[in-house]
Amino acid sequence: AEGARVPALVIGSGYGGAVAALRLTRAGVDTHIVEMGRAWDTPGPDGKVFSGILSPDKRSTWLSDTTDQPVSNFMGFGINKKIDRYVGVLESEKFAGIKVYQGRGVGGGSLVNGGMAVTPKRDFFEQILPTIDADQMYSTYFPRANSTLGVNHIDEAWFESTPWYQFSRVGRKTAHRSGFATTFVPNVYDFEHMKREAAGTAQASALGAEVIYGNNAGKRSLDKTYLALAAATGRLTVTTLHRVTAVEPAATGGGYQVTMEQINEQGGVIATKSVTADRVFFAAGSVGTSKLLVTMKAQGKLPNLSSQVGEEWGNNGNIMFGRANHMWDSTGSKQSTIPAMGIDNWADPTASVFAEIAPLPAGLETYVSLYLAITNNPERARFRYNTATGKVDLDWRATQNQLGIDMTKRVFDKINKKEGTIYRTDLFGVYKTWGDHLTYHPLGGCVLGRATDDHGRLHEYPGLYVMDGALVPGNVGVNPFVTITALAERNMEAIIAADLG
Ligand code: FDA
Repeated sequence: AEGARVPALVIGSGYGGAVAALRLTRAGVDTHIVEMGRAWDTPGPDGKVFSGILSPDKRSTWLSDTTDQPVSNFMGFGINKKIDRYVGVLESEKFAGIKVYQGRGVGGGSLVNGGMAVTPKRDFFEQILPTIDADQMYSTYFPRANSTLGVNHIDEAWFESTPWYQFSRVGRKTAHRSGFATTFVPNVYDFEHMKREAAGTAQASALGAEVIYGNNAGKRSLDKTYLALAAATGRLTVTTLHRVTAVEPAATGGGYQVTMEQINEQGGVIATKSVTADRVFFAAGSVGTSKLLVTMKAQGKLPNLSSQVGEEWGNNGNIMFGRANHMWDSTGSKQSTIPAMGIDNWADPTASVFAEIAPLPAGLETYVSLYLAITNNPERARFRYNTATGKVDLDWRATQNQLGIDMTKRVFDKINKKEGTIYRTDLFGVYKTWGDHLTYHPLGGCVLGRATDDHGRLHEYPGLYVMDGALVPGNVGVNPFVTITALAERNMEAIIAADLG
């Protein structure tokens, strides 16, 4: 309520926010999450909470008049459709040189992502965050993150025999024929549930073309794991459809004044409120946290923030693309939406690529192998407050993807040559091979040990912390949520011991 005072306020309910909430509430601290999206716990008129990929409705997309599918075209046709403006679950946030896809609602990115739960390669982790004790991360915090997230492994015998993973087996076969290694990828989607879907004894979700607009069953999203555990303490309050717009030192009594806008389901502002919090945890995601902090510094609300705030943003080297297979290498009309395998060429410095073999669940045979390549692209961008527009710009340029494309080509040109196949040029527009205008993996903007101290404290302002993907400097070599979760576990343990003890 307006004017209230709370001990701990968490901005955002994605991975960083969910870890902060669980560890604070378990430490006996009453914790308040403010989330700009809705709670995805109530079915719509069709009896379902989320809409599927093949028939998206207003629930799919955050405040937009059309869907904005990552794979936007097929054989010359645009596949986006008109929808009603609504606080839908997936946002494609547009900056001048890149579009950033993010989840919106209680659970953040966990609501829309592919669930791939990958612990980064230790030598690369040590390279990007050299001041962090890697022994501790790999012995304590990565295992803690994996077990609390509910990470599980696919039954390999089932994988080899089910039609639902034919697309992965074709991707693997063509990779192996060119000498590239593949690896199974763990996931938070319950693979036993998926087997029951295949057998017709459980509600189809991964096998029912659901993922980027939410899964109606099977997925262990954060609302089912970390956030449910935090709620079970009785100390968690979650306020939805409220967007934090400012954080500044409170005029009296210490702590911070947090200003927020309450929005309706069409995004209209219906009230502005402020509360005071003793501690504020920024967990609005790499983009959300960076935008807020850069704005607070520029507007003089938090003027002493480090000059490193807003720096070192990257797209995790994301390059999406497709290959056209021959007719005898059909990828199947049945495709699980949950990726289970990656091509791992990371160790090759000239073609440092970890490529997820991605599904393209179209409900019909496409012969397409789709990939999301994570490349070792060291390019970075920065967030800057634009005084003319009052908004935050991100200065990433399309040309900064070239290194990632070059590495990707070194792997997949070889596969195409061996197979006598070509890239699809129709998936991202007309004659556009590389889906490099979008990322699923925004990272950085408030990097650990540089914009913050070594545990995410904004040390110029005691009681302010960063706890999400903004801490990770630009690329981590694998899908990022396990890293974000484990770092938050590590930082929260130290913060609770030292600052709240
Ligand atoms: P996250 O973005 O999860 O949460 C931030 C939350 O803050 C959101 O709920 C947002 O609504 C809220 N918020 C933002 N600004 C706010 C404000 N001002 N006030 C109040 N609330 C605010 N990763 C992976 O490891 N494996 C995978 O398979 C995939 N697949 C994938 C697919 C797709 C389609 C997407 C979009 C992303 C992925 N990812 C992924 C990426 C992964 O989801 C992402 O890295 C994490 O969700 C980031 O976690 P954070 O805690 O940083 O923020």
